[in-house]
Amino acid sequence: MARVEPWWRTAAVYQVYIRSFKDGNGDGAGDIAGLRSKLAYLRDLGVDALWINPWYPSPLLDGGYDVADYRNIDPRFGDIDEAVSFIAEARNHGIRVLVDLVPNHTSWEHEWFEAALAAGPGSPERERYHFRQGSGPGGSEPPNDWQSVFGGPAWERAPDGEWYLHLFDISQPDLNWEHPEVRAEFHDILRFWLERGASGFRVDVAHSLVKEPGYPDVGDEANEQHLLSGVASSRHPYWDRPEIHDIVRGWRATLDEYPETMMVAEAWVFDLERFADYVRPDEYHQAFDPGFLEAPWNAEEMRTAIDESMKAVGGVGSIPTWVLSNHDLIRHATRYALPSGVDPKAWLLDGDRALMDSPLGERRARAVALLLLGLPGSVYLYQGEELGLPEVTELPPEVLEDPVWRRSGHNEKGRDGCRVPIPWTIDGASSGFGSNGSWLPQPDGWGERSVEAQDGTAGSMLELYRTALHLRREHLSSDLEIDWLDSPPETLLFARGSGVRCFVNFGSDPVPIEGDVLLASLDLEDGQLPPNASAWLR
Ligand code: GLC
Repeated sequence: MARVEPWWRTAAVYQVYIRSFKDGNGDGAGDIAGLRSKLAYLRDLGVDALWINPWYPSPLLDGGYDVADYRNIDPRFGDIDEAVSFIAEARNHGIRVLVDLVPNHTSWEHEWFEAALAAGPGSPERERYHFRQGSGPGGSEPPNDWQSVFGGPAWERAPDGEWYLHLFDISQPDLNWEHPEVRAEFHDILRFWLERGASGFRVDVAHSLVKEPGYPDVGDEANEQHLLSGVASSRHPYWDRPEIHDIVRGWRATLDEYPETMMVAEAWVFDLERFADYVRPDEYHQAFDPGFLEAPWNAEEMRTAIDESMKAVGGVGSIPTWVLSNHDLIRHATRYALPSGVDPKAWLLDGDRALMDSPLGERRARAVALLLLGLPGSVYLYQGEELGLPEVTELPPEVLEDPVWRRSGHNEKGRDGCRVPIPWTIDGASSGFGSNGSWLPQPDGWGERSVEAQDGTAGSMLELYRTALHLRREHLSSDLEIDWLDSPPETLLFARGSGVRCFVNFGSDPVPIEGDVLLASLDLEDGQLPPNASAWLR
């Protein structure tokens, strides 16, 4: 069967959190030189593309999502020439590169924001952002009740008394998308990277951008169920506004001038009909499905999440996009290690560590890998999941950098635990990450999970991913169909167009298997699939 074209419809995309991938210059942070040195590793792993988290000049107050210059590279990561030659070299390895577009906000070190602050109230420079007078006596209170995703009010007062909007950190002022210069600027940024060989974009907080005129209060209820955890309501003054879609159509028209390019939306929109609007034929090519990654370890709920997503995006002629971990989430090997009903975020802050069953988490991470890679559509893998890395739960408060930790008043530990630098070798100061330490400390025993430890080791997570990615290319990426078949309770069984079947055992008893095993996440027990295991059959 021929592969489904274009390439992105069935691609396996590997997310590179560049600061933590591989340090090439010994400054403790990953960089382009380090990434380049691992291109052969990525090719052999079998991925089709990379999504590189922001690598632009930035004060790194939100890990680079505070962009000071969209057309350059932070000197800690390299320079623009290196980036351009990296994109070409990756392509020579058969790997495309997606860059991260951050359109909702700039850094406060962006020249536009510096000019806005300098120019003062009422100036045209301020119109590119959201500056308002405060409320209350002397304007000393924020203009409305909007809350920052990272905690606290979404407004910060400038020295001259006006307030500016920042839905994220105070260092990330929101852009005013009603402003023609803002719109023009981002078309230009798209072209800048497309001209330099990028195959497309992952678009940050794609469900934001537009704010309701008049800035109405959202009210306590909406504030409580708010934010990164998703938009449930159909009317919100700053999430998932209908006007967003016009902007997206404009971007799409620009991308359409460049063959084989694409953009994928980070859109935390839980209403699937509204979610599907983002992937209509003249909008995004893909959007990360929020339901699948939130589904607990449970056959029925997983199946519902898969079906609903396929139905919703299929309804507008798009294809599903599956993901389980990224740089914002507790790594799934750890999420699946917790008893059902435990909220991973609350547990990460101060929960009982004895609740975590790491071997169970690892078995489930192996099993879910074959589910993820067995589904039709494209998949996004987060660096280190191919090594089975868990969340690093023991980072001491003094090393935490995520603004979530500070802005939540230390009520949320934040996202540093999934950003700990990758172990490449068994021994060595930072397990082969770099020659001179790592910007976040690696835990004891990190080297035992390294690429070196797993490479060529039968039964390792790395070998499971590698084999599965290659088999997927051969047998599972040629169609977009899924056929559910009857199977015992607490299991899922589906067939793909090639005839390969994917069987997952979510239960606690072994289940009989019918057919030849192409690949299994665990050894069979007396011809049966063990609990928390999966297999591809033919
Ligand atoms: C997205 C990014 C996250 C960042 C936020 C603000 O959700 O994935 O890392 O903090 O946007 O840019």
